[in-house]
Amino acid sequence: MSTVLVTGGTGNTGRPLCALLRTRGARVRAASRHPDDAEAVRFDWHDPATHGAALDGVDAVYLVPPLLNLDPMTLVGPFLDTARRLGVRKVVLLGSLAVLPNAPGVAEMYDAVRRAPEWVVLRPSGFMQNFTGPHPLAARIRERGEIRTASGGGRLGWIDAEDIASVAAVALLDPGIAGEHVLTGPESLGYRDAASTIAKITGRTIRVVDITVEELARTYVDAGMPADYAEALAGMHADIRAGSEDRVTTAVRDITGREPRSFEEFVRSHDTATAAFVKPSRAVT
Ligand SMILES: NC(=O)c1ccc[n+]([C@@H]2O[C@H](COP(=O)([O-])OP(=O)(O)OC[C@H]3O[C@@H](n4cnc5c(N)ncnc54)[C@H](OP(=O)(O)O)[C@@H]3O)[C@@H](O)[C@H]2O)c1
Repeated sequence: MSTVLVTGGTGNTGRPLCALLRTRGARVRAASRHPDDAEAVRFDWHDPATHGAALDGVDAVYLVPPLLNLDPMTLVGPFLDTARRLGVRKVVLLGSLAVLPNAPGVAEMYDAVRRAPEWVVLRPSGFMQNFTGPHPLAARIRERGEIRTASGGGRLGWIDAEDIASVAAVALLDPGIAGEHVLTGPESLGYRDAASTIAKITGRTIRVVDITVEELARTYVDAGMPADYAEALAGMHADIRAGSEDRVTTAVRDITGREPRSFEEFVRSHDTATAAFVKPSRAVT
């Protein structure tokens, strides 16, 4: 039986991944800064003292890099060294289809993962979860019924994070899965298409406003993102406008044996009386 460390074990992909791995009989260590059950382990990227204990006795690692960080190797490099020393065989990295501008450290991290005895790099397109939950895009939809974008009519192959988790589960447990995989949903959609789908299902009109890359970066900073990361993330929208993410792959079906969820199915599943897409009428305490 494999023992798997899932970093980001409480996150968009990590939480469903832990559940899937357990149903397949793996021993799972869900990493969190605030472990809340016996199968969770305390892990903080910024506290290297937590890394060795989390990795000890582990066969495979699902690697969600430190968030909002343009230079992840300062933290991920020593982590991978420790993993290798402790005999971890396989590393599955949650990377991205998008290439952040001015972030050579991210490419270095991909190279370091490729030096693991066995490795898989997952490169998903934009997450459908950006439209719900805490993402600044979702917050603006809920609060103002608005999407601000610098990507014009550019399209992305939006993917449900649960489909990424399904791929990761196979990648972690099946020795036959290796290499790099671009993961997308079943169709490529621009923000206006996404807004129409939300409106069709929830009845809520979402305005799409074109802004510049600089204005988008300021929106991210206002939402609490570090300035350097906000700039890089907003800069990606210029690439999306030029078509960098306008693609659809069959990787989810090829690896899991089932079709990825469409954006429409995703919105329907979150539309319990439109709760995910409207501002709460009173504060939740
Ligand atoms: N969103 C997209 O469209 C998109 C597209 C392509 C790729 N990606 C990539 O996907 C990755 C995950 O993004 P996400 O937004 O879905 O995040 P997420 O996985 O939901 O992130 C939250 C997780 O990170 C953990 N975490 C936060 N700070 C930590 C720290 N200091 N040490 C250890 N763990 C920490 C949290 O654990 P606790 O709070 O429990 O400690 C939680 O499990 C990112 O690398 C992103 O670049 C995202």
